[in-house]
Amino acid sequence: MATQRLRVAVLASGRGSNLQALIVARDAGQLPVDFALVGSDKANAGALQLAKDAGIPTFTLNPKDFANRRDFDLELFRQLDASGADVLVLAGFMRVIDGEALKPWVGRMINIHPSLLPKYRGLHTHRRALEAGDVEHGASVHYVTAELDGGPVIAQATIDIRPGDDELQLAQRLLSFEHQLLPAVLRLIAEGRLSLLPPDRVALDGEPQDAPLQLRNGRLVD
Ligand code: GRF
Repeated sequence: MATQRLRVAVLASGRGSNLQALIVARDAGQLPVDFALVGSDKANAGALQLAKDAGIPTFTLNPKDFANRRDFDLELFRQLDASGADVLVLAGFMRVIDGEALKPWVGRMINIHPSLLPKYRGLHTHRRALEAGDVEHGASVHYVTAELDGGPVIAQATIDIRPGDDELQLAQRLLSFEHQLLPAVLRLIAEGRLSLLPPDRVALDGEPQDAPLQLRNGRLVD
């Protein structure tokens, strides 16, 4: 009997290059998932067009149409539930999600964040790494919990900061590693190899991990 492919929903607020990396990996046969839905809080998000071009259903919710964050998030999750998604990927979704509303998705929701968490939660991560004089920077994929950018880190990609790097150069160089990191983590989930052991441990093949997996030469290693 064929096993069912994982159904994935993606939320994105911007250009959607991480979504595109997932679609490319799926099309290349490297990511055994089906995309159930792509949602955004911005009607003009590039991610929505990429999804449409790939034949993936989309929806937009305008925060201005809701009285408060909780109401917005409850409608967001209602639509995601209705899509039949098993897993939710935040790929550049630029909103803080209400902690109560997201609870049913804990352990089934991941986010990609452009820093070596726990460093630099929140915004302007590249600038902050440069200003701190860091020699390394990176990206993290983590399980989403009620704590902003604070859930258990699954995997990271690390890059050197080069002399003379500015914010844009650093962001662009990191992005190509994000595009490897996110599909690689989602693949582990699709293969049923990854889980969240509450409250805050990541397990690979049932083994609790002491540290995030690392992206090396396009592969995740211990
Ligand atoms: C990425 O840098 C991601 O790490 C962050 O937002 C950015 C989204 O870029 N959370 P894109 O829309 O996927 O191109």
